[in-house]
Amino acid sequence: MTTNVFDLTGKAVVITGGAGGIGSATCHQLGGAGATIIATDVDENGLARLKGELESRNIRVHTYVGNTSKEEDVIAIFKAISNNVGIPDILINNAAQGIHTPPQDTSVAEWDRVMDTSLKGYFLNAREFSKLILKARKPAAVVNIASIAGSSAIGRGNFVYSTAKGGVIQMTKELAIEWATANIRVNAIQPCSVNTPGWRRWVETEGEKAQVLMSRLLQGIPLGRVAEPEDIANAVHFLASDASAMVTGVILPVDGGNLAFNAGGNLGLY
Ligand SMILES: NC(=O)c1ccc[n+]([C@@H]2O[C@H](COP(=O)([O-])OP(=O)(O)OC[C@H]3O[C@@H](n4cnc5c(N)ncnc54)[C@H](O)[C@@H]3O)[C@@H](O)[C@H]2O)c1
Repeated sequence: MTTNVFDLTGKAVVITGGAGGIGSATCHQLGGAGATIIATDVDENGLARLKGELESRNIRVHTYVGNTSKEEDVIAIFKAISNNVGIPDILINNAAQGIHTPPQDTSVAEWDRVMDTSLKGYFLNAREFSKLILKARKPAAVVNIASIAGSSAIGRGNFVYSTAKGGVIQMTKELAIEWATANIRVNAIQPCSVNTPGWRRWVETEGEKAQVLMSRLLQGIPLGRVAEPEDIANAVHFLASDASAMVTGVILPVDGGNLAFNAGGNLGLY
């Protein structure tokens, strides 16, 4: 008999930004593999919708409203999780925010808002999660959703978001080393553009520029399409499960070849 290394039965997973595009696809994917889902988000209505969807599939789900950038919220949520659900096994750091402001016009308020959610929030959730895991002395996995913008420059006012994602990538490596002897694996995923509500809202607000943006964007993706939320959720599943038991400190692009492709390269010319 072979063991299903992707099975998550008996595992509890915390997913920040669970009501969003990638977050909710990840809740469905990991819940479908048997995990109990613990979704956190600032969006109370979105969490209620997600809860209904998961329960209709007989997936066990708990939701907590809170802001990942607020220390008091994150501490309170992990306390409630350990009291009401038990000690979770897996953390998916996913909630993030971006802006599209050129560096010279970026205000400190914008810088702080993006960094607080997209970098400090990842630290706060990892810290509170690790306290429970280290005390319980059980193996665990953290998956950080980074971006291709964390290791290659995108332009178009992505500066603060990209800087935060670069921080997420280095944080992933540091935490992987810090916690390796405790068997807490820490890995990250670098998506290219993903067809989520947040991404679609951004494309829509670009108005006339949207067509140019999309065509330039697609030119950079050798597989010829933007990712779907499920493409990211599948990779999260791998890194969250025993299928990746020997994988830690890895930054995995899920980008249709975008990072591998030199900007001056050609597709299908020869
Ligand atoms: N969509 C893309 O093109 C893309 C590309 C690369 C990386 N990513 C990354 O994937 C992750 C998810 O992106 P998405 O496109 O699904 O976004 P989304 O906007 O669809 O969803 C994000 C979710 O996070 C929640 N959220 C935002 N700030 C929060 C906060 N401070 N506290 C708690 N919840 C908060 C939102 O309410 C929302 O439900 C992010 O880390 C993003 O940077 C997305």
